[in-house]
Amino acid sequence: MPRTSPDAAVLIELEPVVAENLDRHIRMAKKWHPHDYVPWNEGRNFAFLGGEDWSPEQSRLDATAKAAMFVNLLTEDNLPSYHREIATRFGRDGAWGQWVGRWTAEEGRHGIALRDYLVVTRGVDPVELERARMDYMTTGYDSGDKTPLEAVAYVSFQELATRVSHRNTGRATGDPVADKLLARIATDENLHMIFYRNLVTAAFDIDPDATMAAVAREVMTFEMPGANMANFRRNSTIIAKAGIYDLRLHHDEVVSPILRTWKVFERSDLGPAGEQAREQLAAFLTGLDAEATRFVESRERLRARMAARGETPVQV
Ligand SMILES: [Fe+2]
Ligand SMILES: [Fe+2]
Repeated sequence: MPRTSPDAAVLIELEPVVAENLDRHIRMAKKWHPHDYVPWNEGRNFAFLGGEDWSPEQSRLDATAKAAMFVNLLTEDNLPSYHREIATRFGRDGAWGQWVGRWTAEEGRHGIALRDYLVVTRGVDPVELERARMDYMTTGYDSGDKTPLEAVAYVSFQELATRVSHRNTGRATGDPVADKLLARIATDENLHMIFYRNLVTAAFDIDPDATMAAVAREVMTFEMPGANMANFRRNSTIIAKAGIYDLRLHHDEVVSPILRTWKVFERSDLGPAGEQAREQLAAFLTGLDAEATRFVESRERLRARMAARGETPVQV
């Protein structure tokens, strides 16, 4: 009889949980249509069809909202890479395959809706956007050689991070239409997070040590998928300064609540390897918390200096 690899064994053991959570997801997910969220009456032709090309004063978004929308859309755009990542790890068969298809279809409308909104309202330069999309998608996204357990742990955090980022970007636009659209997308991301989080909960019961090691590794090496897109560092600094996504939010609203749901620091079913991973995770979180505090303090000082000069700091 052929031996089953540990990775395949995990996927097989989790399959009934995937099936159950796919049903739950489909019951919970509400239908929505990207076209409903786009103010089409603001649209007009560009020069190619006899209209006017984009210029900065046409945008109603400030520099912060532009940066956040740009990063959020490009991140969504790289869906073919993410599809490849999860299809390779989770496979095309059975409930796993059905989830991969459903998830991909839902993610597809995020990029559609954001692009339609930005092009119709002339929120960002469509030429720069297209150039960045071509570069970012051509490079692709590679999450490294994660095991299936590491992959489900990673996406649990990543979906919640995306939810927080979309939600706060909506607020930062100051535009009720964009706010409504991004809140709608954030609701999708939240359901994705719950799906993956439930799989990890089940994995903890099946193999607590291996799951703890996977979770610790993913928290300690976490990086958003957009890290290799054009101007990511500059834009993520703008996003952090405005409080759309920063280390404090990452620690308090993404990592900590998920770890609490998994009862990571209360479990009594770990062996020596799991204990060791948990201790490393605890030490890492202490450091992350301290770093988040330092970041917020320096941001407060910056905002106070700006206020003293009569400038208005952007914050959500
Ligand atoms: Fe998305
Ligand atoms: Fe998502």
